[in-house]
Amino acid sequence: MLAAPSKNKLHLFPPGTKKKKSDMLGGPAVECDRRTGRLEGRSTIVTGAASGMGAASAKLFAAEGAKVAVVDVNAAGAEAVAAEIRAAGGVAIAVSEAVAAAEAAHGPCVCLFNHAGGLSVKPFLDLTLAEWDALFAKNVTSMFLMTRAVLPGMLKAGGGAIVCTSSISAVFATPGEVLYDASKGACHMFARAVAVEFRDRGVRCNTVCPGFVDTPHGRKEIRELTALGVPASEQDIAEAQGRLGQPDDIAKVALFLLSDDSSFVTGSHVFADGGFSAV
Ligand SMILES: NC(=O)c1ccc[n+]([C@@H]2O[C@H](COP(=O)([O-])OP(=O)(O)OC[C@H]3O[C@@H](n4cnc5c(N)ncnc54)[C@H](O)[C@@H]3O)[C@@H](O)[C@H]2O)c1
Repeated sequence: MLAAPSKNKLHLFPPGTKKKKSDMLGGPAVECDRRTGRLEGRSTIVTGAASGMGAASAKLFAAEGAKVAVVDVNAAGAEAVAAEIRAAGGVAIAVSEAVAAAEAAHGPCVCLFNHAGGLSVKPFLDLTLAEWDALFAKNVTSMFLMTRAVLPGMLKAGGGAIVCTSSISAVFATPGEVLYDASKGACHMFARAVAVEFRDRGVRCNTVCPGFVDTPHGRKEIRELTALGVPASEQDIAEAQGRLGQPDDIAKVALFLLSDDSSFVTGSHVFADGGFSAV
């Protein structure tokens, strides 16, 4: 996910003008404490919601009034997130038979956050077909299955919004990430094509494209890139995107894209990356 060790591309600041950390873009993530009911009463499914950005999103959506179905292969983690939401006064269940159970409990899903996904950091020539197929299943086929299962109900309900988690990796390649980058490129175009096919039936579909974010996935990626000799130190990341993203940075973008605030936004790729893609 981090760009190749380019001399120019990674630098936010010209060489020799390194800023102190405190001067760097954005500073620490700020908690969003304004709740405006932007998803009030909406049946909402979040995949990959037991951890990281998915968990932060499920909690933020619930705080905005959504009835959240927390979907994750980590059933205990999903139940813990749902319980936390309920304890805060929100509405949430953890589901394994995802769409049917969510619809039975909350009504037709009108907001879907296709966030679940995984990582591969490995030299291209060491990749096996089984690894290739497994990551495409996790990152791409999962979006196809969830979206296909949700759309009939969403259309009957008069429309809705879908957000798919893509990545800076969909458009910025990194050594050792051919498989991951290709899978995120597919997510990128999946969302755009769904947006076009369903625009006139009231369904919007967009991607959020995070830079490096402080989650188990993000930390693993940094560790594994570093082990491969790809620059991914704290300083490399600060130069590329100001600071490490926080899960809430992404949750707030996903909320915007699911809510009516983005009513004229569809087929878009929204980069939440501290400027990584702008450098
Ligand atoms: N963290 C980053 O730096 C970063 C940057 C860009 C994109 N992303 C994307 O974010 C997603 C990972 O989220 P995160 O960073 O919050 O990581 P995370 O590791 O904190 O959470 C990922 C969650 O997804 C779940 N999951 C994995 N496969 C699943 C499946 N098949 N079905 C249901 N749940 C599944 C895991 O159990 C876990 O709870 C991926 O789509 C990844 O490509 C992450």
